[in-house]
Amino acid sequence: MYSRTSLCAATLLFSLLAGCGQRTVSYSRDVNPILQDNCAVCHRPGAPGFGASGFSVATYADVMKGTKYGAVVTPGSSVGSTLVRLLRHQADKSINMPKNYTIDLTRHENIILPGVDARDLPARDVELISKWVDQGAKDN
Ligand code: HEC
Repeated sequence: MYSRTSLCAATLLFSLLAGCGQRTVSYSRDVNPILQDNCAVCHRPGAPGFGASGFSVATYADVMKGTKYGAVVTPGSSVGSTLVRLLRHQADKSINMPKNYTIDLTRHENIILPGVDARDLPARDVELISKWVDQGAKDN
């Protein structure tokens, strides 16, 4: 027979473990640094990705606004979010992200030249962004 105490302990341990898997992803702590490190070079006003698509990662509001055609984040659905599909390389080759690039050093300012193909973000980063979307894409 299990004692009431050991049952409680087992339940507590289980909820702690389950809780760890469901940890809340933070926009400011987890998601924003990934976007700044990997996307901002092209997706801010004046940069080529912003020029081509209208998508900026400068602020949370910009990310939620999406491209000139509309939102790329559907809160609660990573599967339905263009942002996540591009990072998982499930879209057309020409728009998978983040694009590779070279820098044209022959100009006075360094000009970013986006390539035709994309590189893979680390799987951990893609999972964080995907979880953040599934948890409601909050400004947290
Ligand atoms: C080297 C430059 C570059 C980098 C880095 C880059 N992008 Fe892009 N991005 C582009 C360009 C250029 C386009 C326009 C592509 C087109 O429409 O042909 C684009 C388009 C997009 C679009 C709109 C796609 C559509 O539906 O038309 C999204 C969303 C996007 N990028 C997200 C990201 C994210 C998120 C990152 C970082 C993980 C990123 N990009 C990194 C250059 C870049």
